[in-house]
Amino acid sequence: MTSPFYITTPIYYVNAKPHLGHTYTTISADVAKRFHSMLGEDSFFLTGTDEHGDKIVKAAENENITPKAYADKISQLFSDLWPKFNIDNNHFIRTTDADHIAVVKQILQKIFDSGDIYFSEYEGLYCFGCERFYTDRELVNGKCPDHDTKPEVIKESNYFFKMSRYQQWLIDHINNNPDFIQPERYRNETLAFLREPLEDLCISRPKSRLEWGITLPFDENYVTYVWFDALINYISALGFPEGDNFKKFWPQACHVVAKDILKPHGIYWPIMLKAAGIDIYKHLYVHGYWNIDETKMSKSLGNVVDPNYLQSTYGTDAIRFFLMREMVFGLDSNFSEATLIERINTDLANDLGNLFSRVLAMFHKYFNGIVPDVSPGVRNGENADLFKDAQNTIKEFKDEMQSLKCHKAIAAIWNLISKMNKYVVTTAPWELAKDENQKDRLADVIYNLLEGLRVIAGLIAPIMPQTSLTMQKHLNIVDENVLSTLDRTAQWGTFETGTSLPKPVTLFPRIDTKKQKDKNQKKNNQKKTDQTPAKQDNPEKKSLPGLKPEISFEDVLKLDLRVATVIHAEKIPKANKLLKLEVEVGDEKRTIVAGIAKSYAPEDICGKQIIIVANLKPAKLMGVLSQGMLLAAVGDNETTIATIGKIVPTGLPVK
Ligand code: MSP
Repeated sequence: MTSPFYITTPIYYVNAKPHLGHTYTTISADVAKRFHSMLGEDSFFLTGTDEHGDKIVKAAENENITPKAYADKISQLFSDLWPKFNIDNNHFIRTTDADHIAVVKQILQKIFDSGDIYFSEYEGLYCFGCERFYTDRELVNGKCPDHDTKPEVIKESNYFFKMSRYQQWLIDHINNNPDFIQPERYRNETLAFLREPLEDLCISRPKSRLEWGITLPFDENYVTYVWFDALINYISALGFPEGDNFKKFWPQACHVVAKDILKPHGIYWPIMLKAAGIDIYKHLYVHGYWNIDETKMSKSLGNVVDPNYLQSTYGTDAIRFFLMREMVFGLDSNFSEATLIERINTDLANDLGNLFSRVLAMFHKYFNGIVPDVSPGVRNGENADLFKDAQNTIKEFKDEMQSLKCHKAIAAIWNLISKMNKYVVTTAPWELAKDENQKDRLADVIYNLLEGLRVIAGLIAPIMPQTSLTMQKHLNIVDENVLSTLDRTAQWGTFETGTSLPKPVTLFPRIDTKKQKDKNQKKNNQKKTDQTPAKQDNPEKKSLPGLKPEISFEDVLKLDLRVATVIHAEKIPKANKLLKLEVEVGDEKRTIVAGIAKSYAPEDICGKQIIIVANLKPAKLMGVLSQGMLLAAVGDNETTIATIGKIVPTGLPVK
């Protein structure tokens, strides 16, 4: 018996249109839901919109309409967008829904009755953008760190929630459940917040100042603070307290959010649940931010990426794939259309698309599209060349997906694709076809490739459901429901001798980069003229000693440079030029062998942030497996490592 699975996104504010960031979170949750369904788990996926509070009132005022009319309009933009990305949510909640409002009131009353809510006068610094009071300590140069505005001094009587009572309990819970908040950096960040005394939370707003909210059940002159209202959506949507969905799914709850709302989810929410006598959620998964040109996306900078444009230009699955592949879950990522196109052309059109059409084309050419007879050893996997690789990939995929490390799960699938592409080259079916005596071997090779394609079609299903379906159709396995579970995907020898399969189609057409380049070029030229005088002809170039041949921009994009932190360094016996470095890159630990021992002692480099080529094929140097290389300026007598200039999160791409 598998246990149920419940996954949620934040409910998005309706003060602005959906953008790339919302789309990423929602696709992440969708991929997780589809993956857990593949494991045979009964899964429930919730998303929705957060519709009360000051922000919404202001946005509505700007358009001269009521907050409700405004909320209806923007909420609709979200609910219309998700089907375009094939989002399979079970429910879309709005905090203006009557049943949600009833549950918020019920919980407030419960906590009030148990004595954890009290009334008091408070004078403090209030940021209207964030809709909350700030302490001096939290401000940066006296300003709100998010809005860069000076908060106003407000004095008013309000209701407060005694969060401080539960501080030690929460610290203990986080310490006793290491996977409660993931990845680890956000668990540590939450524990760091909790090292300071927790202030009680102001959970009301006087109606004289804000009317657009849920009236407190114990004082009709006040409305509920938006966060106290919004967080409760995760249980009201399940029919708390008696609903079957609540009983079934709540014990398995997983929340996905970005780092901006770690505090409400990692601190307020578990304490609210505890105070209300409700079991707390199981996991909180926190991801980083999508930035544009290394800066935050924001309306005022005019750099907000519109998901509707992306979807209509590049297609649903290409965007789902790109977002899941490109962002290391937990770290920030930089979005650019050039990288998107590069991934579509390389990973999707070349690696996956070519493999699929090539294998099916050979199958049609050599066997007229009819599955040949193969030996029992190939059928049961025992003597099948790709069988072990496929099984290992499935295992790795499953392990990574369990903790939402989609980028790693996808890397595992692409590793299999690359092995299959190499298999085509090394077995050279076109040569086998020339030799009558090799007919059986040819049948085995093509059969193995067909089985490999079937496994890939199964594994990509949560990430690219439509592409998976197209592949399944061409492998004639839709009706057999071969991919309904991961266990079925893992089977081998599923193609019956004599069955015929349709001719292949192009899964992903290559994108013509020329048009895109011209567009980008225009943009870049504009930028360049703003910054530096353009170089017509580069005279130094010719005189640079040892200059290597020119490479294209595409070649440069292949390099995955990352910031890494050296956590340990030691000499390698008998190698006087080499140091063995243990580095942290994002969540990963790696070993790197670097030829810097003549310029650096181990203690000189420990703790430094360096830049590494993260996608260099691992190689053994003096018996140590080096998983990447560091960048350094190499002089005749001295080597100087390249650094970033200020401390940044490890794993950050360098471009
Ligand atoms: N309404 C609250 C959440 C209440 S949940 C009980 C809220 N809404 S929001 O519209 O501001 O959405 C914030 C969330 O949107 C982030 O946590 C993240 O999921 C997503 N993102 C918004 N901008 C983002 C990026 N630039 N990058 C990645 N995700 C981002 O906070």
